[in-house]
Amino acid sequence: MFDEIRKEFPLLKSKLFERGLVYLDSAATTQKPQAVIDRLVQYYTKENANIHRGPYDLSVDATKLWEQAHQIVADFINAKSYKEIFFVRNTTEGLNFLVNTFGRKLLSDGDIVVISEMEHHSNIVSWMLLQKEIKFRIEYIPVKDDYTLDLDWLNDLVKKEGNKIKIVSVVHISNVLGVKNDVEKIFKIAKKVEAFTILDAAQSVARCKVDVKEIGCDALVFSGHKVYGPTGSGALYCNLKYLEELTPWMGGGEMVSTVTKDGFEYNELPWKFEAGTPDIGGGIVLGSAIEWLESKVSAIGGWDVLINHEQGLIGSFLNEFNGIEWFKHFGPDDISKKYGVIAFNIEGFTFRGCKDISKIESMKEGNGVIEFLNRKRIAFREGYHCAELLHDRFHTGPTIRFSLGIYSTQQDLKYAANSLKEAVLRGLN
Ligand SMILES: Cc1ncc(COP(=O)(O)O)c(C=O)c1O
Repeated sequence: MFDEIRKEFPLLKSKLFERGLVYLDSAATTQKPQAVIDRLVQYYTKENANIHRGPYDLSVDATKLWEQAHQIVADFINAKSYKEIFFVRNTTEGLNFLVNTFGRKLLSDGDIVVISEMEHHSNIVSWMLLQKEIKFRIEYIPVKDDYTLDLDWLNDLVKKEGNKIKIVSVVHISNVLGVKNDVEKIFKIAKKVEAFTILDAAQSVARCKVDVKEIGCDALVFSGHKVYGPTGSGALYCNLKYLEELTPWMGGGEMVSTVTKDGFEYNELPWKFEAGTPDIGGGIVLGSAIEWLESKVSAIGGWDVLINHEQGLIGSFLNEFNGIEWFKHFGPDDISKKYGVIAFNIEGFTFRGCKDISKIESMKEGNGVIEFLNRKRIAFREGYHCAELLHDRFHTGPTIRFSLGIYSTQQDLKYAANSLKEAVLRGLN
């Protein structure tokens, strides 16, 4: 079944890559199935018009498709209504929206925003930018040696600081460790002080069932391009009870129903938060990508089958390095705790961005290894993966990351493992 799904991805069988492409960078962006590509072509060849404005059929139909896509996202994450969903360009834009709306509304000098040491930079730097205007504190939930978040620490912080904690914003699945955080518990603790809770679901929506009601978050963001949809598409969920009162981040067309010299009235939800002409094609096709993924997940027998499949691939990759001293896995070796991502170091080699002078002086430069893997047509990442704080916490320096998609195979990982061994055994630098 997984082999059949893989065949739906034209880039993976493209003749452009005569020696084949081993795509292990799905945490950065997923490849797109033919159905999603065709849907985008269909939109631009047959359905393209601006939405919510034109009285003509083409525009009315595009508007319907746009609205339906919101409903698809709402159902996908089990939101109450499409009114709780508005489209953004990506997770980063969604998080910045939340910082600049809820952050500005809820935070005063001395207040606290809680994030964690394993956040992506988009959930760190966006808060740091706001700190230039409001003197709130950022507190980081520590990552324990077993790669879980320290919830005792969070409980203690809540006891100590009480309702100075206004916002708790954490990542669901780490894009480096591949661990899934116990966000249900984290948000329960946050609610003891009525903090506003945000989930970065960038890595989780394509890997496991995400249900906002079960998780208990107030807001959630994800990127379309990581869930087999187009770049430039993404969605933000926010519980309806906050949205009526919330002032949008951007003003302009689309988000108002009437404007006079004395002021304006908001459009209804969720369009109030979608100022200007959005990426209409991207949003509509995000809906199609989600429908495509859901149909595949159902065909294979559910999310657990996908999770087992990915964990099996990770397990066989890690087994390739049993007893090999130079391979240093960054993350839990218990594969039942891993979701789609394998980051590692190679002892004796440094990689791009290394900050540790002693390592730079005493180790080989990893460029040769990186180049070798590239020549082997392996697509992967090297560096900090926008999670520098996490790397600093474990003093790992930059890592190499292989990440999986629904199309990843045993052969991909076997080939990647063999190529890596060959590169290191040759002592490339
Ligand atoms: C956990 C996590 N959060 C946020 C992002 C940012 O996503 P985007 O670049 O699509 O905005 C990423 C991207 O890799 C991610 O892995």
